[in-house]
Amino acid sequence: MNILAIGDIVGLNGCDFLRQRLPGLKKLKGIDVVIANGENSANGNGITPSGAEDIFASGVDVITTGNHAFRRKEMYDYYDENEFIIRPANFPNGTTPGRGMTIIDRGRIRIAVINLMGLSFMEPLECPFKTADRLIEKAKQEYADIILVDFHAEATGEKRALGYYLDGRVSCFFGTHTHVQTADEQILPNGTGYITDVGMTGPYNSVLGVKPEIIIAKLKDKLPQRFDWAEGDSKLNCVLFTVDEKTKKTTAVERIEIKGV
Ligand code: FE2
Repeated sequence: MNILAIGDIVGLNGCDFLRQRLPGLKKLKGIDVVIANGENSANGNGITPSGAEDIFASGVDVITTGNHAFRRKEMYDYYDENEFIIRPANFPNGTTPGRGMTIIDRGRIRIAVINLMGLSFMEPLECPFKTADRLIEKAKQEYADIILVDFHAEATGEKRALGYYLDGRVSCFFGTHTHVQTADEQILPNGTGYITDVGMTGPYNSVLGVKPEIIIAKLKDKLPQRFDWAEGDSKLNCVLFTVDEKTKKTTAVERIEIKGV
């Protein structure tokens, strides 16, 4: 089974490029399942219901999110209504809209997708290690065959530590949030396909998606700035995991960057 994880889709630039390139990539690589992080897909940050519909229409099966999951009020009901868009599972239980895990049912096989958020340099949420333990149990109770984790986190060490902690218990583990694709894709000792960060889908000449001059002014002048997404050429960062359906282990990890206009 070929599973594609797409890095944070940024603004209209990212959404348009995804729509343009994903169908061809799916055919070319024989991709069965597509997961994409969409929490920066709206202009001015966050994600909207129409933006999410657009991402699904491009060929994405599950949208994951992170620290910007609840930036738009209109998303609250949408998280409850659409089971294929998820938010980090370690937000407070009982009061947070939506869910932190979903299951794709392909008849012969069930694929659970879990979304977690890191704690280093981020919101103090529930422990992602303990939340992962809990959700892996839940996924098994719901007869999931394959388990995937999107860990939306800042710190490389925290991401690698959780990857090793879950090695052999999930088929694929990928990081999102930093918008920079890391070159450490690997298969961990017990068969989990791993990468620290998948990267970004959006404007190529940018600082994590934002116009460089805005970030330069913010850092240099120390005054607040309105963030605008950059324009121009685009890139699509993703990682392709090949999972053996019998053993549930990853047999190959391919890091992909597509550039274009
Ligand atoms: Fe983020």
